[in-house]
Amino acid sequence: MRAGLGGLLAALWLAVPVLTPAASNDMVARGARGVVVSQEPHATAVGLQVLQNGGNAVDAAVATALALAVTHPQAGNLGGGGFFVLRMADGRTAAIDFREKAPKAAHADMYLKADGSVDQDKVQFGATAAGVPGAPAGLLLALQKYGTRSLKDVAAPAIRLAREGFAVDQFLAGSLAEAKQDLGRFPSTRKVFFKDEAPLRQGDLLVQSDLAETLQRFADKGFDGFYRGRTAELMQAQMQRDGGFVTAADMAAYEAKERPALRGSYRGHEVLTMPPPSSGGVCMLQMLAMLEGHDLKAMGYGSSASIHLLAEVMRRAYADRSRWLGDPDFYAVPQDGLLAADYAKARMADFDASRKGPVQPGLPAGGKESEDTTHFSVVDAMGNAVACTTTINSTFGACCVVDGAGFLLNNEMDDFSAKPGTPNQFGLVGGKANAIAPGKRMLSSMTPTIVLKDGELRLVLGAPGGGRIITGVMQTLLNVLDHGMSLELAVRAPRVHHQWLPDEIAWEPMALSADTRGALQQKGHVIADRPRGIAQVFAVELRKDGTRIGVADPRSGGSALAY
Ligand code: DON
Repeated sequence: MRAGLGGLLAALWLAVPVLTPAASNDMVARGARGVVVSQEPHATAVGLQVLQNGGNAVDAAVATALALAVTHPQAGNLGGGGFFVLRMADGRTAAIDFREKAPKAAHADMYLKADGSVDQDKVQFGATAAGVPGAPAGLLLALQKYGTRSLKDVAAPAIRLAREGFAVDQFLAGSLAEAKQDLGRFPSTRKVFFKDEAPLRQGDLLVQSDLAETLQRFADKGFDGFYRGRTAELMQAQMQRDGGFVTAADMAAYEAKERPALRGSYRGHEVLTMPPPSSGGVCMLQMLAMLEGHDLKAMGYGSSASIHLLAEVMRRAYADRSRWLGDPDFYAVPQDGLLAADYAKARMADFDASRKGPVQPGLPAGGKESEDTTHFSVVDAMGNAVACTTTINSTFGACCVVDGAGFLLNNEMDDFSAKPGTPNQFGLVGGKANAIAPGKRMLSSMTPTIVLKDGELRLVLGAPGGGRIITGVMQTLLNVLDHGMSLELAVRAPRVHHQWLPDEIAWEPMALSADTRGALQQKGHVIADRPRGIAQVFAVELRKDGTRIGVADPRSGGSALAY
């Protein structure tokens, strides 16, 4: 925490009463100073309020994340993990890794049934599916190193929202109704999200008293207030009741890590993004490197030529993802080899503009043969920027609330490769690099990203969307940088996706006209039989004229605010 002027400002800020912020549903906002874009309007308003009260982008991001843990329980969390990519106005950059870790008792075959198949229920629902939460430790690390406010200050709005409650909106009501069966299996979850044996409905007040107390203990005691003492005990008790694996010792041993942000370039822009244990940064930079030699703009947005190129590039990168990417603390990820310019060239040597070709994982130098998440972007008046993606994996994670602590368990263990070659819930396959091991972080697709031009901030973005995050973020970037779209159009524009396996082009409504689908089939592609959403992007653009524009993806219930 900074002293001096920062301390004085913090004291003044403390004197300002914490108001329940006015939430706006606007999905586009323009301002000259600070911008916050998140998936839930109360949380966006909390972030903006911190900025307006003189906090920096990191303070606002941590406050937004904690508010999302209350108001967006589908994905916002204390019980999950995520990544923070930041660039401070003084040029410092960092990637904060607060991905969940496998508990000590974990082992490679822990989710295999006697017949060798994956026990999908065990890896996706309840205590058995949970990794050790990383969010509180990561937010604290970011705040202490890069923020200017105390944890108490930035947690206050979230505590208030949990304690006093807020009205359930149509999006939360819709998610609760959709997940009714899965949520209803857990009495501790029903206690929080059900009324009269049915999920809360739009307009109902959601009060989360246990969560307020958990947040309060964290705000008061920092790391020890979550990872030791009452919260850790409640976590362990839930695990013992339901046969889960996370112990109080696992909680106390959790550590968030600061890693160097991954750096790449695209058509004269610098791209800062998340390194492993996310696959997002490496995979996206690989795709950008493969695309750089092609004139996407001339091909035109949505043309069969450009979509064929995108699909071929995506297949190659996702094949490598599945073969080579995992937690770098446990597996020698050949990161430099994957990102080398000559490797991108070699990968595309067999690209045929007229036909789909066979694709297998490549062999980069150093490679030895041996739905639910949320993203928010914040920029402050000084030019500090945060891109943060955080997750409990599926919508409402493992669907199980830790009784007495009020937060949902993640089901992030499903992001490991529970069995080589068997797809996880996002259809992604993996092998040794992403096998389960105690203390290891499961591979992620989250891609919080910051783009600079000539040292100046240009874009801050990221997305939820499982394995489709990486291609969703990349296409938004291409839409702005190659196709010259406004950010609003770039975020809205329909997207496509290919993840190598299944071997098909996924697409959103309006992304592929009938004749484009026909042209792609002529080239040998299989087109998914029906369109489906591809990621939800939350982005900020900084224009040369000083305007800052925030855009929340209309595919979501999010909002953008600026001043
Ligand atoms: O870390 C990952 O890649 C996944 N747990 C993300 C899940 C996700 O985005 C689901 N939501 N829409």
